[in-house]
Amino acid sequence: MSIPSEIFARAINGQTNLLGVIGDPVHHSLSPFIHNLAAAELGLNYCYLPFHLCPDQLSVGVDGLRAIGVKGFNATIPHKEALVPLMDTLDPMAKMIAAVNTVVIHEDGRLHGYNTDAYGFTKALQACFSVSLESLSILVLGGGGAARGVLAGLLQMGAKQIFLVNRTHSKAVQLADMFNQLFPGALITPIVWAADQLPLSQCQLVVNTTSLGLKAEESSLLDLALLPKQALVYDIVYSPLMTPLLSAAKEQGLQVENGLGMLIHQGARAFEIWTGEKMPVTKIKTQLYDLLTF
Ligand code: ATR
Repeated sequence: MSIPSEIFARAINGQTNLLGVIGDPVHHSLSPFIHNLAAAELGLNYCYLPFHLCPDQLSVGVDGLRAIGVKGFNATIPHKEALVPLMDTLDPMAKMIAAVNTVVIHEDGRLHGYNTDAYGFTKALQACFSVSLESLSILVLGGGGAARGVLAGLLQMGAKQIFLVNRTHSKAVQLADMFNQLFPGALITPIVWAADQLPLSQCQLVVNTTSLGLKAEESSLLDLALLPKQALVYDIVYSPLMTPLLSAAKEQGLQVENGLGMLIHQGARAFEIWTGEKMPVTKIKTQLYDLLTF
């Protein structure tokens, strides 16, 4: 889809407000499409750009964004946790889970960190899975910044029993300890990353938050045939839309959902924080699917 050059030239001018996303990698990000489309739909003078920022450049990169007057930015892998100490203030969710995915740069240069992942995940899960979480056993894969948002979302929705498995087991143990303290009514159990340790036959919901999705060779970790037939497998990865994990789950006749809904809803909350305007979510979602399936 190409934009006529005169519209593009008129759209960006000396008053344009800059937003963006930092990540390593960042080339796969769909956030520029989402936010630029939302701003154009609403007639707002904003431009949202991708910034490839390596972990060892995070602090200097953030200073650079502040210096050139960027109004705000999102953070994707692997910066969500490392951003926390760079913030002047944090909203309650970012503070609780110690991960930031949305930053506002105020006029005076102060940085305020938010986390909109839990909100985005919750909205997306509600749209595709109507079962109450209270009586379910849930398996979460991963122990990074995204896992923190997903765990917070699940627990806020009433989940009581969560098994947490991560390649680096110590991180699963640390996160389980943290969330068991934050949500004393729930039980988060760290599980060793080994096929025979996973309580799959009890789990009606599996959420993958690992950054790569499961590659075909890694999917042997999960014997999806053991899951109950009505289980939902949710992959927060959205590129490709049908990840190896989701495709294996679909073959087993299980319900599957990719991370596009979470991406849009976490982005919608960030967009509202920056612009004060509601993102036209349904329209953006339709156009995003068109883009990805064209
Ligand atoms: P994000 O903010 O997207 O969560 P992150 O904090 O870097 O990014 O976390 C990445 C997650 O993907 C971690 O759980 C990581 O496992 P480790 O803690 O062991 O590093 C997981 N991950 C990344 N590559 C993986 C792979 N090849 N196999 C399994 N897990 C992987």
